[in-house]
Amino acid sequence: MKRAVPGTSILLGGSAVAGLIWVGFDRSGSAEASGERLERGRAIYAANCASCHGANLEGQPDWKSRLPSGHLPAPPHDASGHTWHHPDGVLFRITKQGPAAVVGGGYQSDMPSFTDVLSDDEIRAALDFIKSIWPERERQHQAELSRREKGESR
Ligand code: HEC
Repeated sequence: MKRAVPGTSILLGGSAVAGLIWVGFDRSGSAEASGERLERGRAIYAANCASCHGANLEGQPDWKSRLPSGHLPAPPHDASGHTWHHPDGVLFRITKQGPAAVVGGGYQSDMPSFTDVLSDDEIRAALDFIKSIWPERERQHQAELSRREKGESR
């Protein structure tokens, strides 16, 4: 991207704020995307997820190739990964129960279950933080998947 001239960056800053407000409204007025909640999510992520998924959500090197153990490395949580391909319920279950329990069939994963480590709300806050760094397109896509997922479980 070209270096933004001052006028443009003010515009961009404005639309980022508008985006946050929009996300807040989209979730029926809940304060989920508030700055405070995202800060909490960021801290939970840093303490519990960053060691594998990366301080900048970049994942482990060569994350698409299996490790010598046959297990998968930790994928990035930014737009280059596939976290945004999963609806909220799936992301929550993967984090709470761990991939092995979610996949089943004796599947083995290096990611532990967080059932005894984080409360449900802490898990959601960490996921909200992850979502907050996605560009608009990925966020919209994942929000649509989550709306469909909710519709299906009704
Ligand atoms: C000990 C390393 C480790 C830690 C800590 C860890 N993960 Fe993972 N995570 C992994 C690995 C490895 C995978 C790949 C899944 C597999 O084994 O198939 C993964 C996969 C995932 C996925 C699925 C992503 C996708 O694209 O399908 C989500 C969501 C996830 N992790 C969230 C989290 C969150 C949130 C935290 C912190 C609360 C966390 N992880 C902490 C190692 C870790």
